[in-house]
Amino acid sequence: MKTSAFVAGLLVAGASRSLALQIPVQRRADSSGKGVQMSRMNSTLFNGKDLSYLTTVTIADQDFKLIIDTGSSDLWIAQNAKGVGSSGIGPVNIPYGTGGVSGNVSFAPFSVGSYKVDSQAFLNNANFSLPQLLSQVSADGLLGLSFDAISSIDITVALATNDTSRGRMPLTNIFASHPSLPNTLSILLTRTDDLEDISGGSFLIGEEADGYEDVLKAPQLQRFKPDGFSGLWTVWMDGATINGNFKALGSALEGAPKGKSLTLLDTGTTTAFIPSSLARQLYGSIPGSFMSGNTTWVVPCMSASNVSFTFGGQVFPVHPLDLTAIQPGVAPDGTNFTYCVGYYQVADVTPETFKSQGQDLLFGDAFLRNVYASFDYGNDSVVRLSNGTLKEAVSENPYVQLLKVTDQDKAWTEFFSVRKQTLQKFPPEPSLDKVRQYLGANASASSDSSQNDAKVQGDAVSGAAASDDSDSTSKLLDQMDKYSPIVIGLLAGNLLIGVLLCAIALAACMRRGTSTSTRSVNPTYAPVRFKDGEESQKMYAPKYND
Ligand SMILES: *[C@@H]1O[C@H](CO)[C@@H](O)[C@H](O)[C@H]1NC(C)=O
Ligand SMILES: *[C@@H]1O[C@H](CO)[C@@H](O)[C@H](O)[C@H]1NC(C)=O
Ligand SMILES: *[C@@H]1O[C@H](CO)[C@@H](O)[C@H](O)[C@H]1NC(C)=O
Ligand SMILES: *[C@@H]1O[C@H](CO)[C@@H](O)[C@H](O)[C@H]1NC(C)=O
Ligand SMILES: *[C@@H]1O[C@H](CO)[C@@H](O)[C@H](O)[C@H]1NC(C)=O
Ligand SMILES: *[C@@H]1O[C@H](CO)[C@@H](O)[C@H](O)[C@H]1NC(C)=O
Ligand SMILES: *[C@@H]1O[C@H](CO)[C@@H](O)[C@H](O)[C@H]1NC(C)=O
Ligand SMILES: *[C@@H]1O[C@H](CO)[C@@H](O)[C@H](O)[C@H]1NC(C)=O
Ligand SMILES: *[C@@H]1O[C@H](CO)[C@@H](O)[C@H](O)[C@H]1NC(C)=O
Ligand SMILES: *[C@@H]1O[C@H](CO)[C@@H](O)[C@H](O)[C@H]1NC(C)=O
Repeated sequence: MKTSAFVAGLLVAGASRSLALQIPVQRRADSSGKGVQMSRMNSTLFNGKDLSYLTTVTIADQDFKLIIDTGSSDLWIAQNAKGVGSSGIGPVNIPYGTGGVSGNVSFAPFSVGSYKVDSQAFLNNANFSLPQLLSQVSADGLLGLSFDAISSIDITVALATNDTSRGRMPLTNIFASHPSLPNTLSILLTRTDDLEDISGGSFLIGEEADGYEDVLKAPQLQRFKPDGFSGLWTVWMDGATINGNFKALGSALEGAPKGKSLTLLDTGTTTAFIPSSLARQLYGSIPGSFMSGNTTWVVPCMSASNVSFTFGGQVFPVHPLDLTAIQPGVAPDGTNFTYCVGYYQVADVTPETFKSQGQDLLFGDAFLRNVYASFDYGNDSVVRLSNGTLKEAVSENPYVQLLKVTDQDKAWTEFFSVRKQTLQKFPPEPSLDKVRQYLGANASASSDSSQNDAKVQGDAVSGAAASDDSDSTSKLLDQMDKYSPIVIGLLAGNLLIGVLLCAIALAACMRRGTSTSTRSVNPTYAPVRFKDGEESQKMYAPKYND
């Protein structure tokens, strides 16, 4: 059903306020038939197949749908906002795992909801190297919602003009022009049960959604910025509980609070990344499950576990629908089949890789759908020192507050009915032995691209080329490569797996973009993601707390 979305907790009514982007949350009848049914409404948060979440903004009086991304800080559109000239500042190159985006900086009037910015810096008509990743979720570009210190645009403009405020991201501009407004952004993501696009959820600047005000009483999870990194939305997580067993996962960062793990909250990532030991507990105990490649578990579609994560002593159950994603496949004999993969993917962070990533875990939408999150941006800005060096200055530390929205008992009931219903729309799910055989068979034939579909082959080539990148995303891309023959089959008709894998790659892209962009544009900008040299060697002495 296109208009459906499960959101536990209270209904957010469509009350409109003057300075707010208030989006009514949609609910539909739950399995007992007692839920509230609301019609589809215009809203500014769209769920792109559970892969990306988008909001509509206007740039120079034209509407654009942008992926909201708390994991990056640049604003760009791969479309042309008409009537907007280039400022001559640039070019800005933001490298991503599978390519990148580039363009010159433009300035234009911008608005989101009722908030306006007279002159917003962005990349117009940006050259994004993988446009199909956007078209699969009908996005025009990206809205970065992290901090200015990782904004390539802000840094580039600051270097070119000596003005650190001209190139700031939209949110910072809005906060700056509304001094009495709380510096908050609150996000509630919907879940689509049939993998189609729906609207709903909540994206609010400076206030909380009706019924969710208690979020302000929740523990303040302070953003933690490891030395040598620019700020991102990373907070400490206490641990995971799987089927009743609590486990503290620890950190690869020396001196981390005991047992805790530094976790990036990133709306721009579809999935989540957790250590292999946790993934094994989560998926490996399910009979027949197996790992495909180094990052992804394949499990029966109707299987689930009780999983929750604890932040600041608060327990956040994860909806079983957020544990696995439905994937279409094509068997060697050409018949279609369906299987399921874990949304929580494997990424083991070592003290070495921590130095380039700055976090232990990454929680994207697969986790964030289970919370109402209120991000308080504090005061974190880019300042220019008297000798011209740019520096991140934090005078009030940002923090995030989370409210649980998933009721585990209800979620199980929903899982069984919704998943069953969804599966009925897809080709049959074979036994896992068969799935393993099918995936294996085609994986080994990955270089033998089909000759009969040029468009599809082009896509596969970009996937394969991407895996040449030898950075931390290569694990993911290996997976993409491995699956590429399947992607080929599906892109011809059903987009699902292409969408998922591409979205995963996009997420990884964004992550990588944040880690290297400021570095490449600006040799005089010191506090970038990671510092070479002795200090960091000393900081991150190899020791893993498990
Ligand atoms: C949604 O908005 C569009 C344009 O803003 C309008 O044409 C349409 O009627 C609206 N739909 C609903 C259901 O309000
Ligand atoms: C940026 O501007 C320069 C000079 O005006 C131009 O040569 C270049 O092609 C532009 N780059 C992009 C990506 O638009
Ligand atoms: C866009 O970027 C690609 C590399 O990613 C480059 O080959 C191409 O020339 C660029 N196009 C423009 C118009 O700048
Ligand atoms: C920026 O400041 C430096 C000195 O710190 C000066 O040399 C340079 O000309 C200034 N640039 C602009 C565009 O004002
Ligand atoms: C998971 O939770 C549900 C509902 O809370 C419960 O009925 C079930 O027994 C639990 N399963 C496991 C394996 O803990
Ligand atoms: C899995 O990881 C190992 C060791 O890092 C590597 O040699 C291998 O190529 C990887 N396999 C896949 C399919 O990614
Ligand atoms: C999988 O491999 C078989 C041959 O082994 C081929 O017939 C089939 O089309 C492949 N499927 C895809 C999606 O490429
Ligand atoms: C935020 O911090 C910067 C420098 O660290 C300072 O100039 C600015 O006044 C502060 N803004 C507010 C609203 O406190
Ligand atoms: C500028 O000053 C800061 C702080 O005093 C210092 O850390 C930095 O190295 C200086 N940069 C240059 C280029 O001199
Ligand atoms: C497999 O699925 C694709 C896309 O949905 C469809 O075009 C194709 O006809 C299906 N093949 C068979 C054998 O059912």
